[in-house]
Amino acid sequence: MSSFLLLITVILATTFSVVTSCSASDRSALLAFKSALSEPYLGVFNTWSGDNCCLNWYGVSCDVSTARVTDINLRGESEDPIFEKAGRTGYMTGKISPEICKLDRLTNLVVADWKAISGEVPACITSLSSLRILDLIGNKISGKIPAHIGNLQRLTVLNLADNEITGEIPESIVNLASLKHLDLSNNRLTGAIPADFGKLGMLSRALLNRNQLSGSIPASIGNIYRLADLDLSANQLTGSIPVQLGKMPVLSTLNLDSNSLSGQINPNLLSNPGMGILNLSRNGFEGSIPDVFGPKTYFMALDLSYNNLKGRIPGSLSSAKYIGHLDLSHNHLCGSIPLGSPFDHLEAASFSYNDCLCGNPLKTC
Ligand SMILES: *[C@@H]1O[C@H](CO)[C@@H](O)[C@H](O)[C@H]1NC(C)=O
Repeated sequence: MSSFLLLITVILATTFSVVTSCSASDRSALLAFKSALSEPYLGVFNTWSGDNCCLNWYGVSCDVSTARVTDINLRGESEDPIFEKAGRTGYMTGKISPEICKLDRLTNLVVADWKAISGEVPACITSLSSLRILDLIGNKISGKIPAHIGNLQRLTVLNLADNEITGEIPESIVNLASLKHLDLSNNRLTGAIPADFGKLGMLSRALLNRNQLSGSIPASIGNIYRLADLDLSANQLTGSIPVQLGKMPVLSTLNLDSNSLSGQINPNLLSNPGMGILNLSRNGFEGSIPDVFGPKTYFMALDLSYNNLKGRIPGSLSSAKYIGHLDLSHNHLCGSIPLGSPFDHLEAASFSYNDCLCGNPLKTC
């Protein structure tokens, strides 16, 4: 009985005690993280001293009940007064210490836009099972994406854009069951997009543009029900656009420009009323532009320039509700430009460098 009471006392004591200081191991992990970096202009790390890393350490947050570190949020571009005071944006050199992997309750790791942090993404980061946001955009991080990145089952945001990351997109990435935003743009990734990329069922934005990705666009992408924004532009992708991409319910921005894609333009891509921005410029698309536009067509931008498109501009395009920006230049189109309100505001540049187009805004037929 007395041991039972003792147990109760211990449980109550642990439940209600106010943890006042951060865990010693979290504190030493943070100090190791700090010492591998150098930030000469703003002094973001000046507050990182003293025992309690949960109290007023710039960019650090803890869980109040456990006093374990949950967030590191260091952005080199922000509204914070320290930037105003210094009159400049952030700049940091050094690297991300693997010691960070000892912060095993970390949910958000944002070390973004510091321009010069180099080194690799520590492979051990894949052991941080609580991690929800990993945002290292805008640095000089090199090396590969950790092979076991797919272990991060809670990850919702993976942003490694604007770095110098090489190698292939790891196969395991398709196991990120919670991933909503993937941004790997402007790196040096090579190889193919994993064939089962479509397993990423929660994804709403996938930005893989400005890399050196090759191979074809996986048809499985068409299975990502929530995908609204897909940018694969400025890579070395080949093959045709999978028909599945024209049938996606919420896809509204599709940028495939500056690749080596070929084949005909799938009619569904143009007739899908949700599609607002479609850029297929600078590829090898051929055949004619499908005549499938209608009163529900609403394009902020439709760019089909620099392809091998032939035939006439479809008459149905003049029945579109709105076309903000249209570029059909640098193809082999011929015939008269349709009349109608979507065309009223367009300039000659939208139609230039074709074989034999005529009519307003070009010369009369
Ligand atoms: C489409 O992509 C091309 C080539 O990458 C680019 O120059 C153009 O500005 C883009 N069009 C629109 C409307 O953004």
